[in-house]
Amino acid sequence: MTGTHGRWLRWPADPSRRRFAFGADYNPEQWPREVWEQDVLAMRRAGVNIVSLAIFSWARLQPRPGQWSFSWLDEVMDLLHAHGIAVDLATATASPPPWLTARHPEILPVDHDGRTLWPGARQHWRPTSPVFREHALRLVRALAERYGKHPALAAWHVSNELGCHNVHDYSDDAAAAFRVWLRDRYGTVEELNRAWATSFWSQAYGEWAEILPPRLAASYPNPTQQLDFKRFSSDALKEHLRAERDLLAELTPGIPVTTNFMVMGETKGMDYADWAREIDFVANDHYLLPEGREELSFSANLTGMLAGGEPWFLMEHSTSAVNWQPVNPAKKPGGLARDSLTHVAYGADAVCFFQWRQSAGGAEKYHSAMIPHAGTDSEVFHSVVDLGATLEALAPVAGTRRRRAAAAIVFDWDSWWASELDSHPTSRLRYRQEALEWYSAFLAAGVRADVIGSAGSFEHYDLLVAPILHVVPRPMAERLDRYVSGGGHLVTTYFSGIVDEHDHVWLGGYPGALRDLLGIRIEEFGPLADGDRVELDLGVSGTLWTDRIDVTGPDVKVVANYTSGDHAGRPAITTRPVGTGSASYVSTRLGPEGLEPVLARFLELSGVGPELPAAVAGRVELAVRTDGEADYWFLINRTDESVAVDGVAGEVLRGPCLAPGHLLAPRQVAVLRRGVTER
Ligand code: GLA
Repeated sequence: MTGTHGRWLRWPADPSRRRFAFGADYNPEQWPREVWEQDVLAMRRAGVNIVSLAIFSWARLQPRPGQWSFSWLDEVMDLLHAHGIAVDLATATASPPPWLTARHPEILPVDHDGRTLWPGARQHWRPTSPVFREHALRLVRALAERYGKHPALAAWHVSNELGCHNVHDYSDDAAAAFRVWLRDRYGTVEELNRAWATSFWSQAYGEWAEILPPRLAASYPNPTQQLDFKRFSSDALKEHLRAERDLLAELTPGIPVTTNFMVMGETKGMDYADWAREIDFVANDHYLLPEGREELSFSANLTGMLAGGEPWFLMEHSTSAVNWQPVNPAKKPGGLARDSLTHVAYGADAVCFFQWRQSAGGAEKYHSAMIPHAGTDSEVFHSVVDLGATLEALAPVAGTRRRRAAAAIVFDWDSWWASELDSHPTSRLRYRQEALEWYSAFLAAGVRADVIGSAGSFEHYDLLVAPILHVVPRPMAERLDRYVSGGGHLVTTYFSGIVDEHDHVWLGGYPGALRDLLGIRIEEFGPLADGDRVELDLGVSGTLWTDRIDVTGPDVKVVANYTSGDHAGRPAITTRPVGTGSASYVSTRLGPEGLEPVLARFLELSGVGPELPAAVAGRVELAVRTDGEADYWFLINRTDESVAVDGVAGEVLRGPCLAPGHLLAPRQVAVLRRGVTER
């Protein structure tokens, strides 16, 4: 198994043996030496075979400038190795020590309002600071030279959750780097002026030095400046990742390098579809959010896409409660295993947690861990031990790829960023939420859908849903045209096709770049006020948005009309048949329930259906991995009730025997080995 750069985690050491990695962030520096021995023994009991180490250890490793302290880490590495536990070693650059920020306050990030982000928490560094970079790389070099040949070393873990707190830095360093980035992108100030439409509001620039990040301004900053700053900020952090990676590759060739993404909820500053090309294997952190387990499934699915269908590494999730939501409930019984195995279902070959032992002090002391405050005699630890045994039993699944679905949802970072900019028809639009609602409708229909990037191959799919595909550069419009004329069924929604890559509106009527393909024309948007609803003659209602649609294509069929609101009697949902394919448009936000009957029509049109029997589909989520010789079906009980999974055959690797009448318990996950089904 190789990653993007031809290296895959040296895991397992013996490639002929399939095995899941299982472990956690391990922070031994928070505990006295005698606890370390207890830790490794308990790790063995739980089946832990890998830990991420030294993530926040900079102050311990380099207590003073020029002074290094490695002996404690030597001891931990040796101890882990002696117990057969591998190490994903962090470069420890995530949180600079107090001596560094005291001497070099110029590395501290500055927020949008010009306020300095002071030390005292973590990640208080500017991605573009040359001073920070120099100190960080010195530390990376020291670690690589010391541990590059250590037998426990399985992978390098660059920094930690890059951009979690510092993705948008508005400092002078950022301003200078932004100008370099813009010069690279546009070549001349004139070209930038054109792209940024600076003739509006007297913003034309005469020279590069006049350009700033979109800092707190008297009114809305230029939208293209904002969009470019988002792109730049993602790239600036990516540059940091590359700088550490390149040094590691030079000093320890052969040791794979990763960094933990945060494909999760509204974390949107980093374009991971772009970053995924920079690392040897994709790693992700995910925490269960109030949006629920559909969001978890969506994120795991998207992470699998970023990994190109290859296995990936779940670097962090939680055994139970987190500490950073307004209210932090514990997981329900079975929740820990269900969440972990949902990630596995979508391609994770490693199941790791934050963190091994719950801290007694510090900001995260109420965040759950593998060993909770209550100790090993606890439900959480027992569930952890069970999970270790489950992963052992599922070993044949490790190393398998995900089996492509017949339908896909397109997820596009540019559209996410641009559709939510200010001074728009509504400030209530949420790009990811719309995508997630479509995904939930697929889950409710019991139909598998891949979440793919906008650069992915559309041709593999019979049905492609591209919600709020707002930014459509000409080549993307052409790809979508080809997809539909090749027999594909495209569904898109409100506020799609509106702008090009510079956030300039495609003229002639909305939905701009997709107008001819969809065979409709919209002159004005009809955003809805909070609490307003419009009815559709399909018996569903919409919120957030409506459009005044004129049908322009000759064969366009109206799937649903509005029956209330300003556009009552006019089309709400349309379909234009194109050969054996079609292009459809949904002009309002229907929400997961409203989407169900609408999606049913598109499923019928595209001939895509559930792979599970009707009585089970929708109540049980299906995800499929394959090694070409066998398929592995993950049946995840989405409900809090028992579900009979009659009519599904296969060799049970985990879960109840599937004889008629046997039940999948609430939140239970069954895994079956079956013959390969080619689509
Ligand atoms: C992130 C970080 C961890 C920890 C967890 C808590 O994932 O990487 O260090 O803060 O969040 O949920």
